Amino acid sequence: MLLPILQERLQAAVASALPDADLSRVLVRPCTNATHGDYETTALMGLAKERKMNPRQLATDVQARLDVADICEPVQISGAGFLNFRIRSETLGRVIASAARGDHLFVVKTTRPRTVVIDFSSPNVAKPLHVGHIRSTFLGDCLARVFRTLGHRVVTDNHIGDWGTQFGMLLVGWSDHLDTAALAADPIAEMERLYKLVNARCKEDPSVRDRARSELVKLQSGDPENLAIWREMQRLSQVQFDNLYTRLGVQFDVTLGESFYNPKLAGVVAELEAAGIARASEGAVAVFSDGTLPTKEDPLLINRDGEWQANPFLVRKSDGGFNYATTDLATLEHRFNTWAPDEILYITGGPQQLHFRQLFQTYRRWRPGFTARLEHVWFGSILGSDGTPFKTRSGETVKLNDLLLEAEERAFVIVAGKNPDLPEAEQHEIARRIGIGALKYADLLPNRQSDYVFSWDKLLALTGNTAPYLQYAYTRTRSLQRKGGERPDLASLPDSLPLVAREELELARHLLNFGFTLEAVTSDYRPNFLCNYLYELAGRFSQFWENCPVLKAEDPATRTARAALCEVTSRVLGTGLNILGIETVERM
Ligand code: ARG
Repeated sequence: MLLPILQERLQAAVASALPDADLSRVLVRPCTNATHGDYETTALMGLAKERKMNPRQLATDVQARLDVADICEPVQISGAGFLNFRIRSETLGRVIASAARGDHLFVVKTTRPRTVVIDFSSPNVAKPLHVGHIRSTFLGDCLARVFRTLGHRVVTDNHIGDWGTQFGMLLVGWSDHLDTAALAADPIAEMERLYKLVNARCKEDPSVRDRARSELVKLQSGDPENLAIWREMQRLSQVQFDNLYTRLGVQFDVTLGESFYNPKLAGVVAELEAAGIARASEGAVAVFSDGTLPTKEDPLLINRDGEWQANPFLVRKSDGGFNYATTDLATLEHRFNTWAPDEILYITGGPQQLHFRQLFQTYRRWRPGFTARLEHVWFGSILGSDGTPFKTRSGETVKLNDLLLEAEERAFVIVAGKNPDLPEAEQHEIARRIGIGALKYADLLPNRQSDYVFSWDKLLALTGNTAPYLQYAYTRTRSLQRKGGERPDLASLPDSLPLVAREELELARHLLNFGFTLEAVTSDYRPNFLCNYLYELAGRFSQFWENCPVLKAEDPATRTARAALCEVTSRVLGTGLNILGIETVERM
């Protein structure tokens, strides 16, 4: 909140000392070591080095030109040429008062909104959403919320796998083995059964394989009967997906599956061939390296046994069918033409890294004028307690639906145990929020590129860095609210609130960094920054709550200040959890 103001003033001072300095690199950041102050800049050392100046001399010069006395204690120079800022208590009191009045929540909306397309979740038709789609769904939804909170335009796009070779087998299964009662009861399970059955038959009997292939060709050439069955499979899957998304509170602006791009694929390949980017190779068509990138960075080359070889990006198979790659090229083109995005994020697991590097590189060659940022926001796996990929006891992949049910059941046992007197419907509602919140948080908390071990006990624990702990902290921030009439009236607050106790000041300082934390999430695509921020907020609140009585404080001004701190903490914690996709509860 104050950070952008300090940064602006610092940049003005630097510009007056060094008129040619690149101000975009003159940044203010929260201090890594709180004993030095609240904020710091490290930029002067770099600027001095480039100019062969004495960094401490430059720091002194900038300090003299810096006008921040209305916000900070006198600015300190430390180390080789850091400037350290410590916010005055009076300023903290002013910012907390204005937040309590509802003027802001420590977040400054951007003045330069970007258009960000986020491709996430993207499950496959006729198959259940499994753990691999969980992280994509939670990460993508959270990133969309963070970008929106900061004032960016976001388009969320669910790139469903609704086209491709699996439909040949599904069509054979549909005609030979369909159990309509099972389909009505659990369509995805029945379609999954059909697929597995025919897949096994194909392995034993080449004539089944041929039939699957010819059904696929019929579908792709628009055979009305096959198209109707395919549409029904798609519709049934979408009902299941929508049901899960509703339970998770996840929304998409558009759902454009792979099939949407099918009519464009032949054109993509023709254009790439005409531009000399793709060429025929062993009956297929593929993109090869053009040698412009250093060998080690070139995704179209691979080192095998010490030798660099072609690692082509296949855009047409030898049987004439198109690839995942072709669809993704057409998709990129469509997104570019439709939304003119500044940034496109693809949220999938780590194994797709090569695919996206090849895609981005190929697209940039095809469309040299394309300048948007393309980012594969990849993530690691969820592991079972034995350290191997998370599976059910019988060795099957874990389905998201089952995971949600179990989370709610386990949370219900906890909630009912703690609040035996609540009506059962309310216990269920609280359990739903806690169970699903706990799953999401456990997934967002680790560095997204590391694998994490799934543990019910850990993610549902009421203490430690977990969603239930934060949801519980939230209920405490709301306890004054429940006292109604006894609490100080926050409608008319003084300009600045008296913040004196160490716990009050530390809580206030941390509240100020909410907006900065959200910005950090968007620059690295890492929601774990927000998780850790909220965990620390809850810790500081708890220190404050235990040491600074609110209603029992002697002095009315102190009562008001503390009540305002509770209110503002509550809003930041509630908003922060909401941005993680986690619902709050009033009691638990
Ligand atoms: N359907 C794919 C899968 O389940 C993910 C698609 C990701 N998005 C994309 N544009 N390729 O792995």
